[in-house]
Amino acid sequence: MSAANGDAISFPRGFLFGAATAAYQVEGAVTAGGRGVSIWDTFSHTPGKTFNGDTGDIACDHFLRLDEDLDLVAKLGARAYRFSVSWPRIQPTGKGRANPEGLDFYRRIVEGLRSRDILPVLTLYHWDLPQALQDKGGWPQRDTASRFAEYAGLVAESLGDGVGKWITLNEPWCSAWLGYGSGHHAPGIRDIGQAAAATHHLLFGHGEAVRAIRSTFPAAEVGISLNLTPVRQATSHPDDVAAARRVDGNANRLFLEPLFKGRYPSDMLEHYQSSAPGFSVVRDGDLAAISQPLDFLGINYYTPRTVADLSRTAEASAVGYCVPVPESDLISSDLRVQPVHWPALPRTEMGWEVQPAGLAEMLMRVGREYTEVPVLVTENGAAYSDYVAPDGSVRDPERIHYLDGHLRAVLQAREAGSDVRGYFVWSLMDNFEWAFGYSKRFGLVWVDYPTRTRIPKDSFRWYAQTVRANALLPAAQVTTRLHA
Ligand code: FCB
Repeated sequence: MSAANGDAISFPRGFLFGAATAAYQVEGAVTAGGRGVSIWDTFSHTPGKTFNGDTGDIACDHFLRLDEDLDLVAKLGARAYRFSVSWPRIQPTGKGRANPEGLDFYRRIVEGLRSRDILPVLTLYHWDLPQALQDKGGWPQRDTASRFAEYAGLVAESLGDGVGKWITLNEPWCSAWLGYGSGHHAPGIRDIGQAAAATHHLLFGHGEAVRAIRSTFPAAEVGISLNLTPVRQATSHPDDVAAARRVDGNANRLFLEPLFKGRYPSDMLEHYQSSAPGFSVVRDGDLAAISQPLDFLGINYYTPRTVADLSRTAEASAVGYCVPVPESDLISSDLRVQPVHWPALPRTEMGWEVQPAGLAEMLMRVGREYTEVPVLVTENGAAYSDYVAPDGSVRDPERIHYLDGHLRAVLQAREAGSDVRGYFVWSLMDNFEWAFGYSKRFGLVWVDYPTRTRIPKDSFRWYAQTVRANALLPAAQVTTRLHA
């Protein structure tokens, strides 16, 4: 990539530039086509769980505007599009034969992408568990993993050869720890032991799903998307160093080690020993299923984290960190850590610190410590307080800056030896941002929710230019061209 100042910085040929969405966040039409109820329908309709009581009932109305949205992906010039399948559209009650209307919708996506020369990257599970399975206990129950494998097989049978890449799970950490630990996500349970058991059954379900996909469709390229984050210690005090290691264990190693080394990290097994059922649910043979070889690893990256030991919040504050008033985050209190942040660093509308170096760091770490399989950045992006200007445009220079910085980090990691082969912006369009409802906009495309009109933002044109050039253009060139 080495380029003199002012030159374009090129990506390798065929670098998989894409954009991503997820079913519950964009589709709407929650009762159409025989779709069953998911845990996110239940959760978002429970008072107090989402910002403003927002739900995904209508979302971006993507289910009904599919062709228009696929045209947008084509206009973006994306070489790949990452979408997720809503499990309750395929199996409304989480078991039994596939619902043909549900399969049809995703067949239309796959074929619509292929006809536009865009590679379909399909995620099987982006958090919308059929409610019927939650009623039987959800991911803390082993049977959910078997149900997931059955569902994976059904989707593979029907869409098999059209799909370019398969992602079993999106961010199992969030499903397990936000869903069953802190309760910030559906199904809203706050129980560390259940979160740990859910972690194992998600990973076991992943392994079983990989088998199911490959037995139906042997040539399938299969991976998983993990949200990985570098964890920094607030100070070099040994207690803070140990605190950062515990968070790294929970956030990163708890997933990377079983997937790529066939074991759970011993410090984490010890830590969660007293939280029943926790990892007592692991059975002989499970880790072999979890650690079978993958074709690629997906990494979702947004921001790093900094923590102090819970007993050292005064010291962290004394050296200048902002120490947020402790909210009742069960995951952190169980790990005996205090999340902190350094004031005056650039942050997104989510409050997430902008630190592209963290992405390069994680890319290099997985290559060095865990796996040689190719890596895709399956999500990266930022929410900012965008608005439609009187001239009808949406100017989002901060998002362009964020994406540019992170794409540079991708190239740096490549130079340092990471086999990173693709990058997907989160997200193609503004959408239902889970507990934050519609209050956070991550899109390259603005969605006017009352009318569902789509307006490509400046970042859309910037990204299209980047993909077309297969290079990062110097900033001056880009901005003048955006409004030429
Ligand atoms: C990730 C999720 C994605 C979106 C982004 C902002 O954790 O996978 O659905 O919400 O965060």
